[in-house]
Amino acid sequence: MLSQKLQAEVAKAAHKHYQFKAEEVEVEPTRELSHGDLTTNVALKIASKWGVPVRQAAETITDELKQSRLVNTVCSRMEIAGPGFINFWIKPTVFLKQLPELIKSQKRNIYKGQKVLVEFSSPNIAKPMHVGHIRSTIIGAALANIYQALGANVYRLNHLGDWGTQFGKLIAAYKRWGKREQVKKAPIEEMLKLYVKFHEEMKTEPELETEGQREFLKLEQGNRQNKALWNWFKHESLMEFEVLYKRLGVKFSHVTGESYYEPMLKGVVAELLRRKFATKNSDGSVVVHLEAESLPPCLVQKSDGGSLYATRDLAAIRYRVKKFKPNKILYVVGNEQALHFDQVFSIAKLAGYASSTELRHIKYGLILGEDKQKLATREGRIIPLADVLNKAHELAYKIVQNKNPSLPSKVKERIAEAVGVGSVKYNDLSQNRHTDITFNWQKMLELEGNSAPYLQYTYVRLKSVLKKAGGKRHPVMSVKSLASVGEQDLIVLRTLMRYPEFLRRAAEDCGPHLLAAYLYELANQVNIFYHVAPVIKAESTLRIFRLSLISIAAEVIKEGLNILGITTVEQM
Ligand code: ARG
Repeated sequence: MLSQKLQAEVAKAAHKHYQFKAEEVEVEPTRELSHGDLTTNVALKIASKWGVPVRQAAETITDELKQSRLVNTVCSRMEIAGPGFINFWIKPTVFLKQLPELIKSQKRNIYKGQKVLVEFSSPNIAKPMHVGHIRSTIIGAALANIYQALGANVYRLNHLGDWGTQFGKLIAAYKRWGKREQVKKAPIEEMLKLYVKFHEEMKTEPELETEGQREFLKLEQGNRQNKALWNWFKHESLMEFEVLYKRLGVKFSHVTGESYYEPMLKGVVAELLRRKFATKNSDGSVVVHLEAESLPPCLVQKSDGGSLYATRDLAAIRYRVKKFKPNKILYVVGNEQALHFDQVFSIAKLAGYASSTELRHIKYGLILGEDKQKLATREGRIIPLADVLNKAHELAYKIVQNKNPSLPSKVKERIAEAVGVGSVKYNDLSQNRHTDITFNWQKMLELEGNSAPYLQYTYVRLKSVLKKAGGKRHPVMSVKSLASVGEQDLIVLRTLMRYPEFLRRAAEDCGPHLLAAYLYELANQVNIFYHVAPVIKAESTLRIFRLSLISIAAEVIKEGLNILGITTVEQM
């Protein structure tokens, strides 16, 4: 990748003159092509580290770079800009040579040889997967795909919430009021009802609390009847989740719930105690003090000997590191669990569970309704994911119906599903994951805006140009063709070449929105191109050049959308 090669050159210069380490140096795509293709802020970093004037640092670095063979071969221009950025313009001939390789993912090897575990979705069994979980599922799946597209060996983990005292309550509730046939009919709905009823009744019959605890203890001790019930609840829940996963096109390599780690918990607590990381309180509970990390203490065992959410996560880290030897584990879980992960990761580091594994909490904000109100179960405003997808499908169907009424209805349905589900995913992935996102149906389905249907439609358009031109793909391009190209040709060429760069940035920042923003920019540039640059009527070298740009742009949009989990369609 060009940015990597340039980065190495910049790093050499920064090391030579300012003793900078390679990790401190970054070369990234510019914000806008008018600033060049690639940029580095190394001079700003040097200035703040050594107190030298930025300009001076930038000049020293650029003077050094002017001696570099690589820089002279690939760059047509280098410029110090703004507060001290060094911007690079890449020669179009260099781009042209690399263009045919652009969509060969096997050529992208930044993460080759690296193992990345992405833990995402992780709903709780016996409860509906609401829109809150959708973000983890959508963001996690996209991140996994991004790393895979860059050569990593990716494992997709679903860490189901299937353990804890709440299952004692559910078992107790089922034993009192449950009916097998009813659960069979609408499993999650019925289990939720039982659980809610249990809490209602607890208000007047407080003994229920102990009853729930007793049932959970029995489950922990392996009581046959309770274990069978719990297994059944889990099975029924998974069947329902599976329908949604299928609809979202999401697959996991490992579905192991919290319960999976149950046999390892005692060992973890004993080890933490033995190695003096944890202390036992007078009531028998066990806690890890984290003052040194400026974090509140973390309970790892209750006074009754029961385990906690944190204990299960610690066991999971220890197990995963041993089993997979991953370079990274990404946890795609909402902002509200930040403290939990800070604590768990700190303990894992302390205990040496993950000494050569990067543990990263990939946080994200809430999904708000159009009224900016939180959509959450706790407030009793459950909006099942299936309903959201159904509504998106319906709205998308209207678009297709409008655009192309004569299509067979089966085809229209298929397109509506791709567009509807795509619009829900894109709405999520095009926004910075840290922010709370809103569901604005109109915006999500706008054909002429930053939306999935816009990108999907752009793809359809490009394909139709190619079809009209005879459907030839990837004709050979010669440097000669560059002589006659127009401004927008070059912009599209340069924008295309940014694709792997943005993939790389999206991986580094764990920010799929960077890829989404890139695809949107590409679509915009290609659509301008479509209007200003005649293809079919252009003379032959230019025509070949333009058709290649279009065909590669179509493939980049398709691959990019697929990485985001969005399906392209051939007509709309
Ligand atoms: N099941 C949890 C929830 O729905 C999320 C699990 C997150 N992953 C983890 N390793 N703790 O809140």
